[in-house]
Amino acid sequence: MISRNVLIRSELARELSSSRVDHSQSVARWASVLARLHGADPSRAERAGWFHDLAKEWRSSRLTAYVRAHKIAVPHLRLILAHKRAGLLHGYVSAHLAQRRGLVPDRQTRVAMARHTLGHVRMGLLDKILYVADFSSPDRRYAQAVRVRRWARRDLDEALRLTVSYKIGDVVQRSGFLHPTTVALWNALCKEQA
Ligand SMILES: [Fe+2]
Ligand SMILES: [Fe+2]
Repeated sequence: MISRNVLIRSELARELSSSRVDHSQSVARWASVLARLHGADPSRAERAGWFHDLAKEWRSSRLTAYVRAHKIAVPHLRLILAHKRAGLLHGYVSAHLAQRRGLVPDRQTRVAMARHTLGHVRMGLLDKILYVADFSSPDRRYAQAVRVRRWARRDLDEALRLTVSYKIGDVVQRSGFLHPTTVALWNALCKEQA
């Protein structure tokens, strides 16, 4: 019998390089571990991990055309395109594509997939798990990922705060475009702490 993982990997291989398929599997496993620890549905978290980057390797022009053709509601789309950052659309496109292909029938799972790059001002539990799991999956070797990985087991909100701060810090260091939704998420997390 062909295992379920083999089937999912071959579905992903239609769109992704083998290293990205490996990353997806790593995020899927780690997200399901975090879901168990924090009281979310492990099978939803695992599925979100498997498919979150489905459209990650699409060219900018294809991502943009897809979002327009399907009228996907992406916050500040014009700003994203003005800054030539169409890559930021891949979470929204992955979620939509996964629905069309019947890979992710559950809406909440797709919402988490859509939000995994930019975040959202009010992150739900599954959103947080995928966002943190993507940044800190075991295939990520950098020090920031190791630090988030440690926090993620005992304090998901602290892991989320750290992840957002690292992502924003990285963009600022590169003098890059900061998406307003990520800034809004950061400000919401500051408020929570105050
Ligand atoms: Fe991604
Ligand atoms: Fe990813």
